[in-house]
Amino acid sequence: MAKAIYYGKQTIDQRDIDAVCEVLHSNLLTQGPYVGRFERDLANYVEAPYAVACSNGTAGLHLACMGLGITQGDEVWVSAVSFVASANCARYCLANVRFVDIDPMTGNISIKALEKMLAHTEHLPKALIVVHMGGNSCDMRAIAQLCQAHSIAIIEDACHALGSTYHNEPVGNCRYSDCCVFSFHPVKTITTAEGGMVTCKDPKLAKQLRQFASHGISKDIDDWSHPDPAPWYYEQHTLGYNYRLSDLQAALGIAQLHRIDSFLQERRAIIERYEQAFANHGLLHMQQITANSCSAYHLALIQCADKNIRQKIYQALAEDHIFCQLHYIPIYRQPYYRKLNSTEFNEYPGAEAHYQQALSLPVYPTLSIDEQKRIIKVIEQTLRPYLQLAN
Ligand SMILES: Cc1ncc(COP(=O)(O)O)c(C=O)c1O
Repeated sequence: MAKAIYYGKQTIDQRDIDAVCEVLHSNLLTQGPYVGRFERDLANYVEAPYAVACSNGTAGLHLACMGLGITQGDEVWVSAVSFVASANCARYCLANVRFVDIDPMTGNISIKALEKMLAHTEHLPKALIVVHMGGNSCDMRAIAQLCQAHSIAIIEDACHALGSTYHNEPVGNCRYSDCCVFSFHPVKTITTAEGGMVTCKDPKLAKQLRQFASHGISKDIDDWSHPDPAPWYYEQHTLGYNYRLSDLQAALGIAQLHRIDSFLQERRAIIERYEQAFANHGLLHMQQITANSCSAYHLALIQCADKNIRQKIYQALAEDHIFCQLHYIPIYRQPYYRKLNSTEFNEYPGAEAHYQQALSLPVYPTLSIDEQKRIIKVIEQTLRPYLQLAN
């Protein structure tokens, strides 16, 4: 039987194993020196003033919403096509969520749709959550311009985009946003198994995020309302969570971050080979990358000419044990959100087109050239009858 290939996979080698073992042999498995080191390394990498580690990307999004003061009665607007966590974070804070349509070519929030919603909505959102789909940066300059005019905070869901750039600057530096959130789930650019990071520019916000991630507790004497000289003293000021990353995970993250350039190179080479294979016929095309964006290619997103062709490709690949994914079912289609908002699907033509036609092909650093040839061959064989029909 042919070896199974999945759409994404971690890349682990002996250096990762050694890094984790070193922590296992130490006294501190959770809050030792590695978490701070990983935060500094990641902040340096994305050129952000502050980085706060957390237990996963979902926790990071929740922290970002809490840190920006999102609360009951607030509106938060979210890109219509993403993983549900991009919207759930606002619901954790009891905000009302509204969705903004996407551009099916890029998979990112549609600037035109955002502009239109802003012009026609009375109750403007407190925050907008944009998603860099598959690592393709949104047009952050245009988004920031629109949001700044209405004092709307911006959270970048960059769970796919560690290693991506926008106007030659790393996604994560928060030049155009308040917070940027990364995930280190195994299929992402680097992994800590579960793990996440929030970057920001504002020192006060960074401090708040850190407190929310650790039960709302402050160990900083300057914050205390009832200072006590006892060495064991601390104060809880808000209702926080245990959203901390452990030293074990941080050690893995540091080792992975050292190799991010080669991971990105491999991903980009794979995408180039897909681009070459699928050029020159109209039956499918690769995701269109935003001008001035350089994607980390968390996903190899294709758009098929129609849902029938998408289904045929998915099925033929699955029969050869090649397992693709659809990123994503539009969030407004989820029963939870349908109960909350009475949504007409035709309000989101971009998201609906994407939903009918998108598919994520395998991309990860250890995908071999032979494995990729196998994928391409199955797709070419599947498309052949349609190409003959067209001639
Ligand atoms: C766009 C997006 N946002 C948020 C998340 C949540 O990240 P995590 O799985 O680390 O909680 C994911 C995870 O897949 C994601 O793809």
